[in-house]
Amino acid sequence: MQTLNSITALQATIKNLKAEGKTIGFVPTMGNLHQGHLSLVETAQKHCDVTLVSIFVNPLQFGANEDLDKYPRTLEQDQTKLQSLNTDYLFFPSPQMMYPEGADNHTFVEVPFLSQLYCGIDRPGHFRGVTTIVNKLFHLVQPDVAVFGRKDFQQLAIIQKMVKDFYMPVKILSVETHREKNGLAMSSRNHFLTAEQKDSAGFLYQQLQSTKDQIIQGNKDYLALEEQAINNLKQAGFKPEYFNIRTQKRLVSPTPTETKLVILTASYYGKPRLIDNISFEIS
Ligand code: PAF
Repeated sequence: MQTLNSITALQATIKNLKAEGKTIGFVPTMGNLHQGHLSLVETAQKHCDVTLVSIFVNPLQFGANEDLDKYPRTLEQDQTKLQSLNTDYLFFPSPQMMYPEGADNHTFVEVPFLSQLYCGIDRPGHFRGVTTIVNKLFHLVQPDVAVFGRKDFQQLAIIQKMVKDFYMPVKILSVETHREKNGLAMSSRNHFLTAEQKDSAGFLYQQLQSTKDQIIQGNKDYLALEEQAINNLKQAGFKPEYFNIRTQKRLVSPTPTETKLVILTASYYGKPRLIDNISFEIS
């Protein structure tokens, strides 16, 4: 695997790959890679000639009181994991390279409406930071395919809309969430859970499943189901920010005839804020 540490090196590599007619599969990450990320890489490898992963802890998507400095940075372990999969390229730029005039002074891209809901309420500016960096990375890497995890369901919906609105020539693929045995969605933020919390944090997914089961059995009182789930989470020691039953496409409240649903949640459990979702169809 070749690690590209500068924008010039990345651009030269992309130019050569394009000249050779190679298709490029791209996996943008913030590092601290786990099995979930590795399955994104494997998906990119299945669809393209070469795979490029980026690791960049993007300051623009962290709020003033968030964990930018504490975000785990584990380059060597990440490189080993990527090498074991025969990843072709790693792009590892510094914040100065990505934002030479400062992050606050950078042109931004913002998907309206979707960026202001759910995680966007408690993390104002977060999704604007995500779409700005993903847009910038897409311009640099010019991927044929880019792969994202379905754990960040709202992020995925926002990126799909940005790509559609701008006619970006990239196909977005998504991969199912990887989970620990107890159902806890794999995330770099799980690193902030104690071993004991990690054992019990699977309750978040169990609650998603239980609400899904009740909907599948015919319960359409979505507001009551949301309220009940929030109470259960509080009793289990979570501090839920939201637990919402929504339509998969626009992430709005479903009408009783809507069949494609997603349940989205974010909850503090000890230090970290955990996000998760479950999507399904009803007949
Ligand atoms: O999902 C992430 O890790 C980040 O939001 C992304 C897409 C790499 C942009 O920084």
